[in-house]
Amino acid sequence: MSDLRTVNHPVVDPDDIGYNTSNNPSFEQILEARMTRRGLLRGSFALMAASVLGVGLTGCGNDSDTTATTDTGTGTNTGTSGLTLSFNPVAKSIADALSVPAGYTATVLMAVGDPINNSTSTYSNVGTDDAASFQFRFGDHADGMHYFGLNAAGTGLDYSNATRGVLCTNHEVSEDLGFMHAAGPTEYGSASTAARPTTEIDKEVALHGVTVVEIAKSGTTYQVNRASTLNRRITAATEMELTGLARSSDLMVTAHSTAGTNTRGTINNCGNGYTPWGTYLTCEENWAGYFYRREDNAVRTAKEVTAFARYGIKNDTSGRYNWSRPGITDTTDLYRRWNAGVTGASAAADFRNVANTFGWIVEIDPFNPTSIPKKRTTMGRFAHEACFPAKPVAGKPVVFYMGDDSQNEYVYKFVSDAVWSASDANAGASAGDKYLNAGKLYVAKFNADGTGTWELLSMSNSKVASYTTYSFSGEADVVINARLAADAVGATKMDRPEWGAINPVNGEVYLTLTNNSSRGSAANRALDAANPRYYTDQKGTTSTSQGNVNGHIIRWKETGGDHTATTFNWDIYLFGAQADADSNINISGLTIENDFSSPDGLWFSQVTPGLLWVQTDDGAYTDVTNCMMLAALPSTMGDGNTVNVVNKAVPSNTNADQTVATRVGSKASNTSLRRFLVGPKGCEITGITETPDGKAIFVNIQHPGEGSKSVTDPTQFTSHWPKGGSARPQSATVVITRNDGGKVAV
Ligand code: FEO
Ligand code: CA
Ligand code: CA
Repeated sequence: MSDLRTVNHPVVDPDDIGYNTSNNPSFEQILEARMTRRGLLRGSFALMAASVLGVGLTGCGNDSDTTATTDTGTGTNTGTSGLTLSFNPVAKSIADALSVPAGYTATVLMAVGDPINNSTSTYSNVGTDDAASFQFRFGDHADGMHYFGLNAAGTGLDYSNATRGVLCTNHEVSEDLGFMHAAGPTEYGSASTAARPTTEIDKEVALHGVTVVEIAKSGTTYQVNRASTLNRRITAATEMELTGLARSSDLMVTAHSTAGTNTRGTINNCGNGYTPWGTYLTCEENWAGYFYRREDNAVRTAKEVTAFARYGIKNDTSGRYNWSRPGITDTTDLYRRWNAGVTGASAAADFRNVANTFGWIVEIDPFNPTSIPKKRTTMGRFAHEACFPAKPVAGKPVVFYMGDDSQNEYVYKFVSDAVWSASDANAGASAGDKYLNAGKLYVAKFNADGTGTWELLSMSNSKVASYTTYSFSGEADVVINARLAADAVGATKMDRPEWGAINPVNGEVYLTLTNNSSRGSAANRALDAANPRYYTDQKGTTSTSQGNVNGHIIRWKETGGDHTATTFNWDIYLFGAQADADSNINISGLTIENDFSSPDGLWFSQVTPGLLWVQTDDGAYTDVTNCMMLAALPSTMGDGNTVNVVNKAVPSNTNADQTVATRVGSKASNTSLRRFLVGPKGCEITGITETPDGKAIFVNIQHPGEGSKSVTDPTQFTSHWPKGGSARPQSATVVITRNDGGKVAV
């Protein structure tokens, strides 16, 4: 069997592609401006200036921090409420197994294809299941998820119920390799113009979206209640309502909804969120590659072409699944809606605008199985990774933070117009209409001096209204093309913003920047203080990928501790690295007990305040270890030092070393950061939620077996997890509990 991944399918992860060609300032430009304005830089930043200018360098970031030039922190640990990690660290592993600490048990709750009701057959896992049955099966590529406690009547929210709840789970993609098909998928690579069988497409469409199931404690673990009337699948074909600023916009008109009020489906549901009023948020990440435009750009307006380019919606025959069935004239919109080209007489007669109806935060009421999910357009359109709420404060707006996960994209914040009323704590999606349809959308600028600002994306901001690259027609256009508005205000390009989390102890906001292989180039590394690394990865003695290979976690504190503030201070909490890397790469002092690469999922426990979970989706350190999850007890922002990160000249580069000064948190130790879990081969670890007693956590093992060379020859599978033997690998949700019944991790 040929290598399907290279013959038929995209080899590059969609979020590894950048479409940000804006001229937003790199650090060198910031530095130049500061030099011009002030003549001289003070303090530690003078060192950085010296290095950039090719004067003497001081190597920093070493084990003792002896070269640190400014102590910006208090050194006190106010972030963790005196917690102690109580488990023994799990060793790195490349075994095809899920490892958890001694004294813990991990149980599979649901794997892809498992039925969510009692009338659907057991999953064959050999590709013979009826396509229609996938409407009632657990979807593929489980990702973000959230546990909602269920009230005694089984009809609504009880935040404290740890034994019976509703679990909402995202399904990011359906397997590119095609394990759900008996012999893999029909050809759909870039050279293909063939129409794929609808039975294959129907399976793949249904395997996307969200699963909502009732679960209950059973003995020491949890099981799905397949008889529950709350169980439902939301898929890439489910009816969705468009709400907020872009609702009814001309840019949202399609043949499916000529009024621009509705669309069908949610796709590439990656990270998640939840609301203070008891609803689930699912986030549409790499949606752009699902749409085809087999047309010349000349048939579209200049503004449309600019917008397509900024979001990566191409006018060629490449594409992720080829669901639009080229050459077929469908009488329904089921398949042709994936074609974003001009095919009809007007926008109301085709799907030229369909891509504008994707890229949103989608709100789902987990307690109302017939409710229509609502896309919240006021929160902006981009490659949404996750959406995490600040703790609501009575009488204040509600605030959500969001990352746009593509290379060199931005960090956003939504601040509602409506102020929080605790009486809405169980109000469901009607409260979503109140809080999420009107508000302010901001994008972050991280300044070199450790301050930051939130820039308003609105026509009331003259930088947006007068942007010459793209002339916004109004507020709907601003939220639909939020990336372009963010370009206009000079947002800071980041190393792929993924999940975020807020420390319930002190309100500090954490955000993973997973990695970036396209931050500038070997010749011009385009670094800044918030994204300060560019280096060459070593696999043994071989130099491989370049850039910020292992990622980092940034954090910030809003001015006055007020999440509605428009200014903040930031530092870098933690750098990913292999333990034996140079001290300018392993800046956080990671050891074999906690070294990691490519942080992605992130979650502060809400019931064990101060406990942070870090999950990885990595391709760099996988020669040494499969992806993992670590438990952390962060201190407080500013607990570390200013560090001069020396980015050594890369082998292909004749330029000098480049030093960037940044603010770095205190070094990790095995009491503050410890590996808790290592997954099976080929997987990423993503999605985490917990029961309200803190005694069970749910974790998703996504795409074990990635890189398999065949779907039919078990000797070519890279993983057989979780079933073992010669089984096809399956993405799955696991429940992890402590054998002594105690709280997890502490
Ligand atoms: Fe779907 Fe950015 O991970
Ligand atoms: Ca390596
Ligand atoms: Ca992710």
